[in-house]
Amino acid sequence: MNSTGIRLFESEKLNALSNLALTLNSVSDLDVMMETILTEARRFVGAEAGSIYIKEEDKLIFAYSQNDFFAKDGRDELSLNYKNKRIALIGNSLASYVALANLPLNIADAYNIDLDKPYRFEPEFDRKSGYVTRSILTMPLTNIRREVIGILQIINRLDEKGRPRTFDRDDEQLMVLFSSTAAMALERAQLIRQMLLRSVKMAELRDPLETTFHAQRVASLAILLYKHWAARRYSDLSGVKKNLDHLHIAAMLHDVGKVGVPDHILNKPGRLNPEERREMEKHVLIGLKLFEPITSDLDSMIYDVVVNHHERWDGDGYPGWIDPATGQPCPGREGLNGRVRGKKGEEISIFGRVTAVADVFDALSSKRVYKEAFDEDLVCQIMEQESGHHFDPELVDILLNNIRPARSIQERFPE
Ligand code: C2E
Ligand code: SIN
Ligand code: SIN
Ligand code: SIN
Ligand code: FE
Ligand code: FE
Repeated sequence: MNSTGIRLFESEKLNALSNLALTLNSVSDLDVMMETILTEARRFVGAEAGSIYIKEEDKLIFAYSQNDFFAKDGRDELSLNYKNKRIALIGNSLASYVALANLPLNIADAYNIDLDKPYRFEPEFDRKSGYVTRSILTMPLTNIRREVIGILQIINRLDEKGRPRTFDRDDEQLMVLFSSTAAMALERAQLIRQMLLRSVKMAELRDPLETTFHAQRVASLAILLYKHWAARRYSDLSGVKKNLDHLHIAAMLHDVGKVGVPDHILNKPGRLNPEERREMEKHVLIGLKLFEPITSDLDSMIYDVVVNHHERWDGDGYPGWIDPATGQPCPGREGLNGRVRGKKGEEISIFGRVTAVADVFDALSSKRVYKEAFDEDLVCQIMEQESGHHFDPELVDILLNNIRPARSIQERFPE
C-alpha cells in the first residue's frame, strides 16, 4: 500500500485500524477472538451480518457468525448457530473460492452473480431464516507465510436508511488491512486453544468417555450463563469482556487436576466409596498447583474457577475455606470445631458459581463411566431441585430460561 492509498481513508478509520491491533492483542480465547474480529469488522464498514470460517486441511469450518437482523428480533440463537458445519474446499461456494484464490471477492448482489463465474451464492440460510443477503465481501485471512487460515465474510453493508448497499473500493481496501491484523491475532488465539486442549486431553486421556468436548461445552455454557448474569447488572458488556475471555479459558481447565487422580478411581465403573471420593476431590487442589504461582489475570481466573467449581451455594461443597499450601482451615474462616468450612452463597465467586452450574448440567446430560446420560427433562428437574441448595438460584433461572441455546452448545460438541 503506497502513501496515496493510505490517504484514501478518513483519519477516523486510520485511528480505528491502529486501535484494532490493541483490541485484538488483549484477547486470548479463540471464541472471544472470533466474536471480537467479526464485531469490529462489521463496525468498520457498517455491515449487518457476517461469518468466520476456519480452514482445516482441505475443509472450511463454519466457525462463527453474527446477524444484527436476528439479534434485534430476539432470534439471536440463529446467529449463534455455530454448527461446526464443514465445507469442502473443492466446492463452488464463495468462501471456498476465496480460500483457494487467496484474493478478496466483492459481490454486489448475491442473487445476481453471472452464471459463468466459478462461484455460487448458497441460499440455504436465507431460505431457512427469511433473511435476504445482498452485498457480500469475502476476505481471505492469511498468516505471515501467506497461507489462508480462514475466511472473513461480511454481509449487507447498510446505508443510512438501513438498506443494503454495495461494498465500495474504500471498504475493500480497509478490509485488506483489517484482515491482515485480524489473521495474526486469530492465529495466535488458535495456537493458545491448541495448547489448552492438549492440557485438557492429558487430564482426560485415561477416561474414554470424558473428552475435550466436555471441557468445551462447560466453557461455552459458563460463558452463556455469565453473559446473562452480567447483562442483568451492567448495561454495557464491554466492561466484562476480559472476564469473558479469561472465563472461557479457565472453564475449559476446571478439571485439569484430574491428571493427578489415579486411574482406578477416575475410571471406576460404579460409585466411589468415601475414601476414593476423598482422593477424587483432590483434583481441585492438584489443579491449583498447576497454575501456581499466579503471575497474570488469566492465571488468577483459572485459579478462581478451579478452586470454586465444587463449592455449593448451601455451603456443603469442597474444598471450602482451606489454605491450599498447608491444607489447614483459613484462619478466621474455620467452621465448627476448627474444621474447614465450605464457602457459601456469594462467598463463592461468580465464576465458580457459573462453572458449577455448567459442569453439573453437562455431567448430568452426558454418559460417564459411572452413569448413563439423563434425558433433558430429568436434567432440568435436578437442576431446579438443586436451586438454592447446590446452585445459585439466579443462575438456575438463567439456565432454564436459556435451554435452547444451552442445547445448541451441546450439539456443537457432540459426545
Ligand atoms: P463429573 O463427572 O464431571 O461430574 C461433575 C459434577 O456433576 C459432580 O461433582 C456432581 O456434582 C455432578 N454429578 C455428576 N453425576 C451426577 C449424578 O448422577 N447425580 C447428581 N445429582 N449429580 C451428578 P462431584 O460429585 O464432586 O464429582 C467430581 C468428579 O468426580 C466427577 O466429575 C467424576 O469425574 C468423579 N466422580 C464423582 N462421583 C463418581 C462416582 O460415583 N464414580 C466415579 N467413577 N467417578 C465419580
Ligand atoms: C462462546 O462459546 O464463547 C459463546 C457461547 C454463547 O455466548 O452462547
Ligand atoms: C463481576 O462483576 O464480574 C464479579 C462480581 C462477583 O464476583 O460477584
Ligand atoms: C452427587 O451426586 O455427587 C452430587 C449431588 C448434588 O450435589 O447434586
Ligand atoms: Fe471437577
Ligand atoms: Fe467436570
